[in-house]
Amino acid sequence: MADKQAKLNVGDQGFDFPVLEGSCGPDVVDIRKLYGQTGKFTFDPGYKSTASCESALTYIDGQEGVLLHRGYPIGQLAENSSFMETAYLLLNGELPSGQELDTFENTITHHTMLHEQLRQFYQGFRRDAHPMAIMCGVVGALSAFYHDSTDISDPEHRKISSHRLIAKMPTIAAMAYKYSLGQPFVYPDNSLSYTGNFLRMTFGVPAEEYEVIPEVEKAMDRIFILHADHEQNASTSTVRLAGSSGANPFACIAAGIACLWGPAHGGANEAALNMLREIGTPDKIPHYIERAKDKNDPFRLMGFGHRVYKNYDPRATVMQETVREVFEALKVDDPVFETAMRLEELALNDDYFREKKLFPNVDFYSGIILSAIGFPTTMFTALFALARTVGWVAQWNEMISDPAQVIGRPRQLYTGPTQRDYIPVDKR
Ligand code: SDX
Repeated sequence: MADKQAKLNVGDQGFDFPVLEGSCGPDVVDIRKLYGQTGKFTFDPGYKSTASCESALTYIDGQEGVLLHRGYPIGQLAENSSFMETAYLLLNGELPSGQELDTFENTITHHTMLHEQLRQFYQGFRRDAHPMAIMCGVVGALSAFYHDSTDISDPEHRKISSHRLIAKMPTIAAMAYKYSLGQPFVYPDNSLSYTGNFLRMTFGVPAEEYEVIPEVEKAMDRIFILHADHEQNASTSTVRLAGSSGANPFACIAAGIACLWGPAHGGANEAALNMLREIGTPDKIPHYIERAKDKNDPFRLMGFGHRVYKNYDPRATVMQETVREVFEALKVDDPVFETAMRLEELALNDDYFREKKLFPNVDFYSGIILSAIGFPTTMFTALFALARTVGWVAQWNEMISDPAQVIGRPRQLYTGPTQRDYIPVDKR
């Protein structure tokens, strides 16, 4: 029995509901019996006040700008960890020993190859297909190739399909990029790191050796860490809802990719750089800030604002530092970074953004780095999906392995016509 209770009066009847406490963050009012006791639903479009599940993976404090993965602050992981180590942490709950990490990396490395027939799958797309369209299709199609790991009730099947998804996303994303260029696919090289292998598959060509630049590999790996997981965001909630029906993990991740593509979510990194390029020079910024404030103008500052963070997104801080490192390593002299920093400065000193607590989010600077490394904007969200697959898979495993989990099935406030009789066409 929960010690704390919440009281709800419906008409002249009073009802008590247990208040559950987490290890940190807001308590929750357990309303699972609300409808049975009161005949009423709650109403929360966009789920702004709704906890959809219990989770031990990631904690966000939007007011303080805090992001923890299994208790470890994102800044410390970005500084000291690797994407593979962070993946192990999210999947298993603890940082690995040296041996555990080596074994995990070796397992992932040996799943990076795609079934050879999937190469033909790419041929069905136009060369100018958006990489996210290809990612949706190819990842969904993986369930047609891996029947040996789709029994989600079997922990071993869950483990191998989790490893396959994490391992194959870089190969799928790199192949989408190569296909768009008309260049040959580059097979994985097991002697490279997860991120180094991705860079080689993306930018290498069969005709010559590809040299992984350590500073770029480190920056890319850090960007993957920053995108790994983020509590119950829209795409993670999509993966959980799809998984709650018992759908196979490949189909669930494909659903998450589709949701992430939206410009309000993972598509914002592509939209943010396109916006910065459109602004061009700092003297144009005030015009765009006024447009973003104009209720009659649908334009928004892409890469700004967040449903949860009402403070600086801690990932944006690390991202901004990473821009400087990559620009220095690659001797990049792109005025877009100055434009971005000036836009941030002017927006954060504007009452509209201050009052609505709109700060740069993870997508504001990521595109600048990815562009400097050589990715086209169309690949940005595919890279987000590559990294977020770790979080989606970890969240999916957490849900599926909970014996109490049930199919997600929200209700509604119905405002359509009440019952009426059919009218034959000659009487209408
Ligand atoms: C990601 O959920 C996650 O964790 C997501 C993510 C993750 O890691 O998974 O963090 C990744 O999706 C980051 C967000 C990327 N999206 C963008 O950068 C797109 C631009 N941002 C907005 O579309 C918006 O801020 C959202 C979608 C991110 C959040 O929207 P909310 O929480 O629904 O807030 P809202 O739309 O109700 O905005 C509140 C007010 C509104 O004004 P009023 O109606 O109150 O007058 O702020 C305004 C909005 O018009 N506003 C903006 C704005 N964002 C919100 N005005 C101008 N520019 C913006 N960017």
